Order: sequence, then C-alpha cells, then structure tokens
Amino acid sequence: MEIKYPVYQPQLTGNEKKYVNDCLDSNWISSRGKYINLFEKKFAEYVEIEHATSVCNGTAAVLLALLTLDIKADDEVIVPTLVYVAVPNMVLFAGATPVFVDSLPNTWQMDPEDIKRKISPKTKAVIAVHNYGHPCDMDAIKEICDQNKLFLIEDCAEALGGKIRNKHVGYWGDISTYSFFANKTITTGEGGMLITHSKELIERAYHLKNQGVTSRVYWHDVLANNYRMTNIAAAIGLAQLEQIDEVLKRKAEIAAIYWESFEGTGFEFHQPAENIIHSFWMCSILTEKSGQREPLRDYLAGNGIETRPLFYPAHTMPVYANLPSEGLEIATDLSARGLNLPSFPALSDEDVRFIASKVLSFAGE
Ligand SMILES: Cc1ncc(COP(=O)(O)O)c(C=O)c1O
Repeated sequence: MEIKYPVYQPQLTGNEKKYVNDCLDSNWISSRGKYINLFEKKFAEYVEIEHATSVCNGTAAVLLALLTLDIKADDEVIVPTLVYVAVPNMVLFAGATPVFVDSLPNTWQMDPEDIKRKISPKTKAVIAVHNYGHPCDMDAIKEICDQNKLFLIEDCAEALGGKIRNKHVGYWGDISTYSFFANKTITTGEGGMLITHSKELIERAYHLKNQGVTSRVYWHDVLANNYRMTNIAAAIGLAQLEQIDEVLKRKAEIAAIYWESFEGTGFEFHQPAENIIHSFWMCSILTEKSGQREPLRDYLAGNGIETRPLFYPAHTMPVYANLPSEGLEIATDLSARGLNLPSFPALSDEDVRFIASKVLSFAGE
C-alpha cells in the first residue's frame, strides 16, 4: 500500500525560495554571506541565548561541542541509551567512552538517579538529550553536573521549541546543540547549530569548526576540521525560523488530538510532564506489550500510515557490545513498545483523527 501519511515532511511554504535565489543571484553560495550571520543572530534571539554558531549537521554539532570542551581519550561521557545513535557515536569519535544510563518511564528521558550511579573518576561530561521533544529533568541533571564538576551538553536536536518553566531547552548546557535535518521542527536540508552563554566557548567552537584558522592567512594553530554551514542552508533556515511559531502551534494542536484520542485506551501517549512544554517533534505512543508494536506498525502501513519504532537502545548495537549493559531495562522496554506517529504540521485534524482511529481499531477499541 502506498504511504499516504509519512511520519514527517517539511513545510517549505515561506521565503525559502526567495532567500535561496538571493544566494544564487549574489554568488554567495558557500559558507560566507549574510544569511549565515542573520540565521545565527535570529536563532540566538529565538532561543534567548547569547551566542550561536552554525554547523553542517547535528552530528557535527555534538562532536564540535565535545571537542570544544576538550573531551578526549580516557574521558567518560554519560549519555542516555535510548537515543539517536549519533550521540554515543560522537563520544567515540572524540576518543572518549560513552557510559549509558537508563530512562524514566514517564518522560522517556535520562534518569538523574542513574546518572549519579554511573559517575566515575573518569567522567568528564553528561549529554542530556531531549528525546522526541520532551525536555529532560534539567534542574536535577544540572545540579548533579555542578556538584561533580562535570560539563553539561544539551542535545536539543529534537526539542527546538521545548521549554522548562518558560525557559528554552539549551539554557542549562555549557554548550547545547541542534539539528536541522529535513524531519526536524525547522530544517536547512542538512544543518545544525551550537549555542552557549560563554563567549570563550563560542570562539573556541568557531575556531575548531573552521580549520583552526588564525588572522595569518593559511596559518592554522591547532588540529581542526570543517563543520561549516553554507549560506544557502542558512537562507532556508532563516525562512524556516520566520514560521516556527506557526509550526509549533500546529504540532501542539496535532498532539492534543492524538492525546485525547488515546486517553483511557490501552495506548499510552507521550505526554508532557508538569511545568514543561513538549515541542512534539514526534507524537509517540506505547503499546501495552512489546509483542504488539510490530504488528501494529504493519497494520498501519497497510492503511497507508508510516510509523517509526522508538530508537533501539544504543547499548544493544554492535559498536557498543563490549560496554556495560546492566540496569538499562526501562529504556529497553520503552524501545520495544514505542512508536512515532505522523507528526508534521500539514496534517489536518481529520488526518490525525483517521490515524488515531486506525491505531485503536487495530486493538479493537
Ligand atoms: C538527538 C539527536 N542528535 C543528533 C542528531 C544528528 O543530527 P543530523 O542528522 O543533523 O546529523 C539527531 C538526528 O536526527 C538527533 O536526533
């Protein structure tokens, strides 16, 4: 059956074409140009942070954050096991070792008590990842990092627009990162951003994303790489940012319909905890039993509805087979029961009701 309802599709209905054509017409197509500066400035204003620097994707943003904080071989970095694999992978690429923590059953985010248990003399940082748009418990995680003198990175790739007590996610991290892949709340095609309160850290990040350039032409004073965003990507990003309030509003409306549809049924909707704004990057549910998830996904696919399983726990993947894997049962259970439903702003109320009704009819509800 042809997919009628994909899990995601970007909304490119604003000034994207106009700004991209401006790049082409003006010859500013590489990583310099007015859209880079404008996008960084407007993005920083939107998330209410002092400094932002753009990068070529969200994976590079995580690696650049680790390198900027001088994370290296022999260091340990605490990460959730229920996570998109780029996060632990970048810890390995930095030469350090990821240490996996379990999830909380209600929010699906990393468990602060498990972070405490996993701290060792080698621990240098924690990466708090706001899975599917629901913020982590940043008060607890920040306190643990402060008490143990650990760096805190927030990976906000999935949570742009998410807030805790009216503060944007990304506020608590020494450095916080974003992805603008095509399925994200705003997209640049491929792209990412690194933000921080610290002038010193943003200057270091800029230096490291830019081949370690100095004011002396072709003189590079450190080993570095090229993680720059193009002006064309930034032009798309700026046009996307102009529409973000509308996109987030529509996503919240879609989530409200799903939430109401699943209330009192055997499906558990991924709902926001108290005092937080869930950005609903993905609207997600849990089946009652793990064995139901794949048959449900097949049934929905047969009705033209695409879904995604929750991430496989990273500790179960071949790359991490030699790392400790005890005490990660909640993440493993969530991963086996969870799925993401179509969550893009162009869905109509009727589309969402239809999708929810198909989920319920699978269960005979
Ligand atoms: C939490 C998280 N971090 C990092 C990334 C990597 O971002 P990108 O695909 O832009 O490299 C993603 C990807 O989608 C993600 O969900």
